[in-house]
Amino acid sequence: MKAICRDNYGGPEIIEIREVEKPQPKEKEILVRVYATTVNRTDEGVLLGKPKIFRLFTGISTPRHATLGTDFAGIIEAVGSEVTRYKVGDRVWGFSDSGHPTQAEYTCFPEKGNLAKIPDDWDYTSIVAFAEGAHYARNFLNKVDFKSAEKILVYGATGAIGSAMVQMLKYEGIPFDAVCAGKDVALIKSLGADKVIDYQTADFTSEGKKYNFVFDAVGKSNFGTCKKVLKDKGVYISSELGPGNENLYLPITTMFSNQKVSFPFPVDVSRSLAYVLEMINAGAFMPVIEKIYPYTEAVAAYKHMLSQQKVGNVVLDFSRG
Ligand SMILES: NC(=O)c1ccc[n+]([C@@H]2O[C@H](COP(=O)([O-])OP(=O)(O)OC[C@H]3O[C@@H](n4cnc5c(N)ncnc54)[C@H](OP(=O)(O)O)[C@@H]3O)[C@@H](O)[C@H]2O)c1
Repeated sequence: MKAICRDNYGGPEIIEIREVEKPQPKEKEILVRVYATTVNRTDEGVLLGKPKIFRLFTGISTPRHATLGTDFAGIIEAVGSEVTRYKVGDRVWGFSDSGHPTQAEYTCFPEKGNLAKIPDDWDYTSIVAFAEGAHYARNFLNKVDFKSAEKILVYGATGAIGSAMVQMLKYEGIPFDAVCAGKDVALIKSLGADKVIDYQTADFTSEGKKYNFVFDAVGKSNFGTCKKVLKDKGVYISSELGPGNENLYLPITTMFSNQKVSFPFPVDVSRSLAYVLEMINAGAFMPVIEKIYPYTEAVAAYKHMLSQQKVGNVVLDFSRG
């Protein structure tokens, strides 16, 4: 089978498309014929081995798996002898936030791993865009009692995390404004933002508005800047460690302050997938996909993702093996 591989940590130039052996499921695993995966910012960590602490999960000196990947959508082709939850022919999608060899024509996944059945009317390329970014977005929302918020600001609404987050806020009925580049203002408005500020032409801290929470979905702002737009008891939450890794210690040093910082260590992917399914069933989630690449163009897909400018998701299509 074909797989997207590399042997060491490094940039997209070390990625190769290889012919590798098809995996065989163990007793408690399913074998999936993969039709689509995304190339996402968790894949960035798996490829680069950065931040270095991530290597505790992906392999200390060399990668644990030569095949890249984190998420997948496909159909079950075989099941191990002890699998009870799934059967051959089930369509499933899933995500492993510490890397898993999913960017291949076939992958084995534990039946009790982070996966779920795909709703009948959803195709593989659309559903796969609801795993990685949606999981991290959901973790922002898990972290705080946002339901009492009068207004939230989502900074960086166009990434995989931001575009999922704004739809979750809309679904929860929480009023929010958003910040993004001018070319994407219409998209983010269509996803439910009350007001969208173009960061290229306006300073979001000079709009005269204050928020209960600033969700910095893209990690490009910081607490110092966002304090100006936080209300009393307001909370700043970021998807990144921030300058000098400050978002690791600010939650402690601001614990007794009027305005606080929270850092959402992401947990419980299965719970996030269940929430996404709830939203899908309510017709409240739209996949934001900027581009679908055939797997033969994996290097271009990785370069696109590494530009930090993708809008929503970038998908790798494995349907034509
Ligand atoms: N904590 C975790 O476990 C975890 C997990 C995954 C990802 N992350 C981090 O979370 C962040 C977001 O991930 P993602 O997947 O959503 O990213 P992404 O999809 O790569 O986000 C890219 C988007 O951000 C926008 N952007 C770039 N610079 C901006 C700026 N200065 N202001 C506002 N928007 C800007 C880009 O549009 P324009 O350039 O056109 O504005 C683009 O649409 C990344 O930094 C990633 O490393 C954290």
